[in-house]
Amino acid sequence: MRNIKELFWENGLPDKDFASFWFCIEFVHMVHTICERMVFLMDYDKIVCNCCQVTNGMIKEAVDSGADTLEKVQEVTGAGTVCGACLENVRNLVEQFLKEQK
Ligand code: FES
Repeated sequence: MRNIKELFWENGLPDKDFASFWFCIEFVHMVHTICERMVFLMDYDKIVCNCCQVTNGMIKEAVDSGADTLEKVQEVTGAGTVCGACLENVRNLVEQFLKEQK
């Protein structure tokens, strides 16, 4: 079985660049991990939907209570149902809180 270094070598990645390439992979992985953990530092009192005065915490409560889609969260909280300006942020929050449950 080939190891990952051999795999990249066969695909033309020069050996001298392998360390920096690997560093980049590790760096991206580290940033991704930090971003995922940022959800724990989230301000739950921050309003995500101004139209309906819905906070990050209210989105989390909805997800924790079983709303497992954007539409269900919208039904429960009303977030994103007026002007739609917050919809992308609400969608991201729902995805983050669902990931957190896994
Ligand atoms: S800001 Fe959320 S619907 Fe307008």
